[in-house]
Amino acid sequence: METDRREFIKKALYSVLALLGLGFLIPGIKFVAPGEVRKKELAFFPLISEDELPRLGVKKTELVFSVNGRERKTRVYIVSSPKGPTVFSAVCSHLGCLVNYQKEKNEFVCPCHGGRYDLAGKNIAGPPPAPLTRLPIKIQKGVVMAGLKV
Ligand code: FES
Repeated sequence: METDRREFIKKALYSVLALLGLGFLIPGIKFVAPGEVRKKELAFFPLISEDELPRLGVKKTELVFSVNGRERKTRVYIVSSPKGPTVFSAVCSHLGCLVNYQKEKNEFVCPCHGGRYDLAGKNIAGPPPAPLTRLPIKIQKGVVMAGLKV
């Protein structure tokens, strides 16, 4: 009985040491401490072709991106002004509902609690505590690319 217990402890100890050793020897194996958060990095994804940019006004579209090989999409608005295009995430800064563009008011309105944003993305009424998230953009070979932290 005592021998079984000692044998079990010895095997458990060797297993832990073997796992730790593998972690040091094989670079692909990474131990993640509980609570450790992977740092998000900015990556650019194609949004629309440069020809499709509205000259003035607002265009609703979806940004398709990938995280860990999984394809995802999120609604964004492209606001074109004489200063150039700006891209905003449609995710409301209050509780994350998707805002809609209301042409007659020239505002973004959140259907959940009535939050309102102007065309610069600034929160102007209702509960949203912050502006809409503005996505960095760049144009590469005629394609408008929008940046997300993934
Ligand atoms: S989630 Fe948009 S106002 Fe509450």
